[in-house]
Amino acid sequence: MSDSLQFTYYGHSCFAVVVDGVRLLFDPFITGNPKAGSLEVSSIEADYILITHGHADHLADAVAIAARTGAMVISNYEIASWLGKQGVSRTHGMNFGGSFALPFGRTKYVVAVHSSTLPDGSPGGHPGGFVVTNGARTFYYAGDTALTYDMKLIEAEFSVDFAVLPIGDTFTMGPADAARAAAFVGTSKVIGVHFDTFPPIAIDHDAARSHFQQRGVELVLPVIGETFAL
Ligand code: NI
Ligand code: MN
Repeated sequence: MSDSLQFTYYGHSCFAVVVDGVRLLFDPFITGNPKAGSLEVSSIEADYILITHGHADHLADAVAIAARTGAMVISNYEIASWLGKQGVSRTHGMNFGGSFALPFGRTKYVVAVHSSTLPDGSPGGHPGGFVVTNGARTFYYAGDTALTYDMKLIEAEFSVDFAVLPIGDTFTMGPADAARAAAFVGTSKVIGVHFDTFPPIAIDHDAARSHFQQRGVELVLPVIGETFAL
């Protein structure tokens, strides 16, 4: 087991984390992202693609990347079934409270407070988030969500090294609630996502950082295309 996780940001809520050599890609949305024009979707590799909910800004590139890489797509049951009908050959459907074994450990699908309609209007089940752990290192990706007391259950079960939280407001938590979410899950490091992509979710970076500082939490605002170790 390696202690260091490699994080790469692809814009909006799309990012990859390499855990013990296994490449996890979350919520692929690059082609339609006006801020991610410099990225080549065809160069993104993945062993697993994890999708939190059915909105296009979280899965628009999933079918193409799954087809090229052969990655297994993990999501809730409704989204996994829908992607199967779109031609994705390897899917795994989950629901709240369930865990799925990965080569290095497991991921657990946890509650999010949001919506999840698929791009063609099909029901996308309930939106969720993922906790990923290899035993030594653990992180939580909330997906799109409001602040919710359910996050305290994550703190009760896991020791979260860092959380990837939406901070753009309007459709999800804003920075103040996301800082409270960090306290709920018991982490002192947050990677902010779901901000600045479109005008309704543009944020003041300094104001966002100060909300986290007040709670003793470090906020990282990743730059599209950058890779760093966590
Ligand atoms: Ni959404
Ligand atoms: Mn979204």
